[in-house]
Amino acid sequence: MSESVPPASVVLVSGGSRGLGLAIVTDLLAAGIKVAAFARTVTPELTALASKYPDHLYAGSVDINDSPAVQAFVKTVESTLGPVDGLVNNAAIGQDSLHVHTSPERLEDIIQTNLTAPLVLTRFVLRRMLAKGLKGRIVNVTSICAQRGYPGLVAYSATKGGMDAATRSLARELGGRVLANAVAPGFFASDMSAVLGQTQLDQIVRRTPTGHLTEPEDVVPVVRMLLLDNTNINGQVLVIDGAASI
Ligand SMILES: NC(=O)c1ccc[n+]([C@@H]2O[C@H](COP(=O)([O-])OP(=O)(O)OC[C@H]3O[C@@H](n4cnc5c(N)ncnc54)[C@H](OP(=O)(O)O)[C@@H]3O)[C@@H](O)[C@H]2O)c1
Repeated sequence: MSESVPPASVVLVSGGSRGLGLAIVTDLLAAGIKVAAFARTVTPELTALASKYPDHLYAGSVDINDSPAVQAFVKTVESTLGPVDGLVNNAAIGQDSLHVHTSPERLEDIIQTNLTAPLVLTRFVLRRMLAKGLKGRIVNVTSICAQRGYPGLVAYSATKGGMDAATRSLARELGGRVLANAVAPGFFASDMSAVLGQTQLDQIVRRTPTGHLTEPEDVVPVVRMLLLDNTNINGQVLVIDGAASI
């Protein structure tokens, strides 16, 4: 029988400065895991966590689209916390414009930030992980938008569908040395979803059998399970939306 993949011990979280990313960082630190987090802006909340967990959290200001800066950050994380064996691809930008009104430059920006850059980061982290003979875990944060249609989110949905598809192929390609999964949350309150009006939010709640919007706190335990627990879950997209999309 092949050996199972051990829990991740050093987890890199992109976009760990606010919203769901910050909730994931906070949860992993409370679980005793070493965490590296980056975003373009290090928020006061992330700085406060770094003071609370000086030996367990390394935070930096990095744009995921600046590949050399991302690579330098990963190397510094390794020398500070140890080899990275967990990656949460969480950083992303949203969209709130009909496709016909979205400029080609904005389309490129969304695809670069939400699809190309996470794949480049994943490649870089994986190469270093595998070169060191480590096993590991990858969790991609995608969205219910990849599975159901939503107006105003065409390019965004395309990137999330791309990451779902990449998750499945990564799981096959990595042959069980690295478990690759995705979580696909329903809409939750954050800076990204602030564009939704109360009418839209009420409509989502009405269509949700559990009767409430998804919260980051609903998603965090699933991410923790995929990073730390001894499961045979691999190549899956786990939807967390109270069955709103069913
Ligand atoms: N909110 C929802 O309803 C919802 C639903 C389903 C899925 N999701 C997904 O959940 C994840 C988190 O979303 P959220 O709602 O928590 O969003 P958010 O509050 O807007 O946070 C996004 C995070 O990504 C970072 N980020 C954005 N662009 C970046 C860049 N170029 N380089 C580095 N970091 C960057 C942001 O920091 P900086 O801006 O400072 O860089 C921030 O830390 C995303 O993948 C999103 O697609 C969200």
